[in-house]
Amino acid sequence: MIRAFLNIIEVKQGDTVLDPFIGSGTTAVEAQLLGINCIGIDVSPLCVLQSKVKTESIDVLPEIIKWKEKLLKRLNSFLFKFEGKAIDDTIDSITDEKVRNFYKMAKLVAISDKARRGKDFHKSFFKNLELMISSVSDYSEIKEKLNLELGKVNIRLGDSRSLPLDDESIDGIITSPPTQSH
Ligand SMILES: C[S@@+](CC[C@H](N)C(=O)[O-])C[C@H]1O[C@@H](n2cnc3c(N)ncnc32)[C@H](O)[C@@H]1O
Repeated sequence: MIRAFLNIIEVKQGDTVLDPFIGSGTTAVEAQLLGINCIGIDVSPLCVLQSKVKTESIDVLPEIIKWKEKLLKRLNSFLFKFEGKAIDDTIDSITDEKVRNFYKMAKLVAISDKARRGKDFHKSFFKNLELMISSVSDYSEIKEKLNLELGKVNIRLGDSRSLPLDDESIDGIITSPPTQSH
């Protein structure tokens, strides 16, 4: 649907589209695939994290894979002693923000799986990691095979009632705004 809207509003490769309520990043992913630049804003840190991970992990895939091996080695000795703490400490020690964000997201999904479905935290963490890595690998493979030039994505934490954007800097807006709640 987002792709259809991008076509309808006629934003082209190299143009910039804004989604002032980026949520989980659908507009950013579709724009990125079409070579359209995207600025995405959301007031929720979780949405910002999710959108960044979806669009930035492709830049650091080899590092993400290396860290999985490191994490497994480090955790083997701690696994049943400190629950999530060993994972937290390892994730905090990752210096590259894009790689760190990827692991933070995998951890949050595992926490959610445990809270909502009673799943084992560590099993869920490594299973999610596999799924996420395979999804980014597919994205990377498609990019190479189709020789895609991805659009630049800029995801920011902020309140869209006061947008820090220059006049005439946006070629189109696509969004699904929040519904009002009292
Ligand atoms: C309906 S959702 C967007 C869904 C999005 N299209 C997607 O694909 O996930 C609306 C989003 O607006 C965000 N939001 C609400 N008030 C906001 C504000 N004042 N500034 C920025 N974002 C806001 C919420 O955090 C939420 O992620």
